[in-house]
Amino acid sequence: METPALVVKDLKKVYKTGTEALKGVSLTVPAGDFFALLGPNGAGKTTIIGIVTGLVNKTSGSASVFGHDIDKETEVAKAQIGLVGQELNFNPFEKPLDIVTNQGGYYGIPRSIARPRAEQLLKDLGLGEKMLGRAMELSGGMKRRLMIARALVHKPRFLILDEPTAGVDVELRRGMWEYLRKLTSEGLTILLTTHYLEEAEQLAKHVAIINKGQIVASGTKEEILALHDEKAHQGGIRGGKLEEVFLQLTSEK
Ligand SMILES: Nc1ncnc2c1ncn2[C@@H]1O[C@H](COP(=O)(O)OP(=O)(O)O)[C@@H](O)[C@H]1O
Ligand SMILES: [Mg+2]
Repeated sequence: METPALVVKDLKKVYKTGTEALKGVSLTVPAGDFFALLGPNGAGKTTIIGIVTGLVNKTSGSASVFGHDIDKETEVAKAQIGLVGQELNFNPFEKPLDIVTNQGGYYGIPRSIARPRAEQLLKDLGLGEKMLGRAMELSGGMKRRLMIARALVHKPRFLILDEPTAGVDVELRRGMWEYLRKLTSEGLTILLTTHYLEEAEQLAKHVAIINKGQIVASGTKEEILALHDEKAHQGGIRGGKLEEVFLQLTSEK
């Protein structure tokens, strides 16, 4: 079998405040997959991503990216990943073209290569007209797309998006889905966290549901949907079946 894009084993995280954010999380994202990590606010999604990308120190457990252990081969592991974080974290006074080009510099990509690549990415993401203005002039959805362009400039094999469509309106969200679909069809592996159940239902091959620092369900989308228990469904819940499975698995009992 091909080396998975991500293998996380028994990951635990206790923050200094005493919060037990992860209580032993294991998951595998196969190479080429579109993997959706679902969970309510505070479930631990961003903490997992933080650990995998080297932004958060884990308490215990292990993680490897395309077979590269994040502790032993930190730089190689990191170079495989493009991260679109949950928070907007670029300088609003800079130009989108510079923001994306400069990111290439962190990965040792010469400017002469990074710049045309940045231009192309921004055009592909519909920001061609805006790339020489200030980033602060972009709409919410455009800012999100700028983050995607920036995450792709070093040609990572694995793109991680933490709630990329939060605050993005429906039409733009669908446009972003199309773009992400195109990327996976070209061989990129994607891990996405989302609140929008419809998003996972539309896009994901595999789904894991996390609640209070523990994975409560994981499998192919079809397997997860098969967990749907008709009898437990009392009616009144709107949305697709994935939403019902999600609510059953994450509701307070
Ligand atoms: N830097 C931090 N310090 C202390 N607690 C944190 C920190 N970051 C997150 N937490 C806590 O860890 C838990 C998981 O948070 P997070 O991973 O952000 O969840 P999610 O992304 O699923 O909403 C929450 O209880 C949150 O309050
Ligand atoms: Mg989060």
